[in-house]
Amino acid sequence: MTNITFKAQQNPDVSKTVTACVVAPVFTGKKLPAAAQQLDQLASGALSAAIKLGDFSGKSGQKLLLPGAGKAKRILLIGCGDAKKFDRDAARTFTQSVYAAIASTQAKDATVLTADLNIKDTDAAWLLESFARGISASLYRYTETISKPKDAPKIAKLVVGHGADITSRAAQKALNTGHATAVGMNSAKELANLPANICTPRYLADWGRKLAKGNSKLTTQILDEKKMAELGMGALLSVSAGSDEPARLIVMNYKGGKPSQKPYVLVGKGVTFDTGGISLKPGAKMDEMKYDMGGAASVFGTMEAICDIGLAINVIGIVGAVENMPSGRATKPGDVVTSMSGKTIEILNTDAEGRLVLCDALTYAERFKPQAVIDIATLTGACVVALGAHATGLYANKDELAQQLLEAGVTSHDRAWHMPLWDDYQKQLNTNFADVSNLGGPGGGSITAACFLSRFAKKYTWAHLDIAGTAWNSAPKGATGRPVALLTQYLTDRAGK
Ligand code: BES
Ligand code: MN
Ligand code: ZN
Repeated sequence: MTNITFKAQQNPDVSKTVTACVVAPVFTGKKLPAAAQQLDQLASGALSAAIKLGDFSGKSGQKLLLPGAGKAKRILLIGCGDAKKFDRDAARTFTQSVYAAIASTQAKDATVLTADLNIKDTDAAWLLESFARGISASLYRYTETISKPKDAPKIAKLVVGHGADITSRAAQKALNTGHATAVGMNSAKELANLPANICTPRYLADWGRKLAKGNSKLTTQILDEKKMAELGMGALLSVSAGSDEPARLIVMNYKGGKPSQKPYVLVGKGVTFDTGGISLKPGAKMDEMKYDMGGAASVFGTMEAICDIGLAINVIGIVGAVENMPSGRATKPGDVVTSMSGKTIEILNTDAEGRLVLCDALTYAERFKPQAVIDIATLTGACVVALGAHATGLYANKDELAQQLLEAGVTSHDRAWHMPLWDDYQKQLNTNFADVSNLGGPGGGSITAACFLSRFAKKYTWAHLDIAGTAWNSAPKGATGRPVALLTQYLTDRAGK
């Protein structure tokens, strides 16, 4: 889907560069950066003339497309603001501007000169990775159920010129990692965008099988309802009870590290449609509950990315795939079920189903003797109220893991915010009729949902990401591919040690 290739090249000779479009950054101030200066010479002063006319000042986000010169068919200038203030935010604006300007042309290839971008607080590898990820992620289009999709941008190849502060080998690696991450993000978007009549638990299982087909380090195992019943997964199965689509537990095993190395485990909520069950949701915007498998989508996307990067660690991806429907066989409020852990759960609201799916998947994760377990779920509307669309809600039973995830979020610009998991909140889950209830009452809904999960994650280091606000946009509607970038960064950081 993201058919674009990136090629690193150290300080390409501008006068010899054969390209449909050569792109150079320009900062505010009188002096042109080295690459733009060379282009100005090649174009007989066309750049400095345009700047003199006042058409282009180098302000961040400014774009100027000029006729070609030498062997380049077009020249594109990108304003990057004050050179001394060029930071990660400015770098992202640069990437977005490059994308928007190139996508508005018919250019199939381009050469982007980045050597003059000396970034504060980080290095060229970060810049190149972030650039390749940003461009590749922008190329995603949903087309699957559209008869005549709109024209997609033509760009298929980018040569990325870099300076002597990074080797071409390291530069190429950064570009590849960025691209692989975006491919994972775009797969996550596709899965989440697909309607629930196509993207069923069975469809997700097939997706997991397909991922393993292309990679010798990855194997996929599917557990059906019979197998889950044998394991005692009464909580997960109570969610699919009302649906004609049988539940699946999808287990992907990536062996990139030594066999003796403990794996990292990702657990995704894969509710392919959430009607609320007998505690039926209101009709408005219910279509958006097709995205309720966004956590699962991010697990698939991350597994795809790490396979592509070839990370030297072991990672298990577990997806609990179910559809939450009302019917004569559906679970009713007040029903008590027994989870795989042996704990009984009073289901006070069948719309708090995500935690019921996850708790059994979390117990299942114990068998892998994990280094750490991270679950990812569009778990609560309360998290959307608390953090909106920008930060994922992060909970953890170890501060070190929380810190690592926060840092990975900053590095990949897929940020999370650390929320409290204090014991004080736990008593909101008390009930007279079971070991725990699935409803925490009106206050702190995202926190009490995390508290519920924490009871099933006592045997290992664990974190929970509530992505209800970050996994999709409501206007215009569409999945974001988050938090694939955060998770891929986190795992890349672990492999690097
Ligand atoms: N899938 C929803 C959470 C959700 C709501 C995600 C809105 C994105 C946007 C989840 O299964 C749910 O329904 N949660 C309930 C829990 C409540 C019944 C305790 C909620 O948030 O209202
Ligand atoms: Mn629900
Ligand atoms: Zn849900």
